Amino acid sequence: MKGLPAGFAGRVVRWQRTHGRNSLPWQNTRDPYRVWLSEIMLQQTQVAAVLGYYDRFLARCPDVQALAAASLDDVLALWSGLGYYSRARNLHACAQQVVQVHGGSFPRTAAVLQTLPGIGRSTAAAISSFCFGERAAILDGNVKRVLTRVLAFGDDLSSGANERVLWDHARALLPARELQENMPRYTQGLMDIGATVCLPRNPSCLICPVQPQCAAAAEGRPEAYPVKTRKLKRSAESLWLLHAQDGDGSVWLQKRPTPGVWAGLYCLPVFGSRDALEEALPGSSRGELRDVEPFVHVLTHKDLHLHPVRAVLPTGWNAGEGAWFGAGDWARLGLPAPVRRLLERV
Ligand code: ADE
Ligand code: SF4
Repeated sequence: MKGLPAGFAGRVVRWQRTHGRNSLPWQNTRDPYRVWLSEIMLQQTQVAAVLGYYDRFLARCPDVQALAAASLDDVLALWSGLGYYSRARNLHACAQQVVQVHGGSFPRTAAVLQTLPGIGRSTAAAISSFCFGERAAILDGNVKRVLTRVLAFGDDLSSGANERVLWDHARALLPARELQENMPRYTQGLMDIGATVCLPRNPSCLICPVQPQCAAAAEGRPEAYPVKTRKLKRSAESLWLLHAQDGDGSVWLQKRPTPGVWAGLYCLPVFGSRDALEEALPGSSRGELRDVEPFVHVLTHKDLHLHPVRAVLPTGWNAGEGAWFGAGDWARLGLPAPVRRLLERV
């Protein structure tokens, strides 16, 4: 790795003004509630998917007090379909903590923001640099790619020690002056370079503002960075979903336990085998089950092989935990996306 490039921050800031993204709905505001909400939504989700959710969420919860006062069920329903639902549970807990512990105002430094649920080191720095001009470094997946390339940083980021060294470099590259103006632009500029120029495959080095200082481009091998050897161990699990309907088309839904897959969401009853599903049903309905084509739902660490089984049951049937919900109820419930699709497919 070469020495740190001088003037790096200035290039990023100047480029962002004219070539970065400047009219997303969470930009041109320094309201930490709006910025925080966008950063959480954008953590594992593309901008295009977030846009509709963001406006709808703000219409229902315009400030942190409204979000803290909402029920977790309502928050999960607003999040329904965005995935990674622990984000929604943390969002709700964070709003309550801001109201109860911080008097309803978000903390103004990354160090304190980081103590709140769901806010990691990079998200805390994004919020404090965007809203308060703090000189704090972000290092999300896209920015790791940009910086490891600029620095030709070839050490394995699976190691926490190597990742900490990259954090130190990220801090050393920050703008040094006029932070109120430069920090928001620098933070957004790094995100924008990562999202639109320095792509994982075939990065656009010819139009990249930091190309004159980029060690990986000079080596002619940008795709050699970042280095990360440890592969996610993925597992697979088969689950049987009881899609029980009564004569009116209502569906039996149960609230999922916490912790676990889809914690807190409403879901069809889940079984580990088809036999277990049958045993939960009254003897008279066991002959009338209809197996639906199984499908795979991909989670972060696991492929779920879902096997829906349809059954028509009397309205009086009661499996203990859960309740019948008519089609008119589904829209307001937090449902896992594959379950919602299944219900709406009938
Ligand atoms: N991803 C994370 N934060 C973002 C932001 N502020 N703008 C665009 N994409 C982002
Ligand atoms: Fe990425 Fe190429 Fe720009 Fe270097 S020059 S930061 S590799 S796009």
